Amino acid sequence: MRRVAGYLLGCWLGLCAAQAADEIERFTDGNAEHGAKIFKQFCRGCHGEDGRGGAHTFMPHIQNLTKQGYIDQMSDSYLFEVIADGGAAFGKSGYMPAWKTKLSDQDIKDVVAHIRKLPTY
Ligand code: HEC
Repeated sequence: MRRVAGYLLGCWLGLCAAQAADEIERFTDGNAEHGAKIFKQFCRGCHGEDGRGGAHTFMPHIQNLTKQGYIDQMSDSYLFEVIADGGAAFGKSGYMPAWKTKLSDQDIKDVVAHIRKLPTY
């Protein structure tokens, strides 16, 4: 939670726009290939094949995981935590489930690595 607050504060101060993408924390130990399988199995139903959301579901307010200036501004540890603990834990939609009981830490890192490989636009 503190990290998110820091992130939001940073943006509020106008720092996040100034932050170069390569300064934002990225994991180096995720396996995107395995992550793609997990994404297909557990995430695609809501987020869509390409992470752009909406296509296969009536879920309200699916975040687009591929939007430039949005997802690329988030640290991997934030993504990790929102995937592990679910949307509600971060004041976001409770329709985004918590995955920590289903997925291991490594699985979550792998799926984050996959999200990083999705083409942004
Ligand atoms: C039941 C539908 C559903 C499933 C399944 C689901 N999500 Fe989500 N997800 C959501 C919704 C709804 C949001 C939007 C939350 C918001 O912004 O309020 C979201 C948001 C997110 C976000 C962005 C959070 C943010 O701060 O904008 C990430 C990252 C994410 N999901 C990853 C995943 C991953 C990885 C999986 C599979 C392990 C997954 N989701 C499975 C519904 C789902």
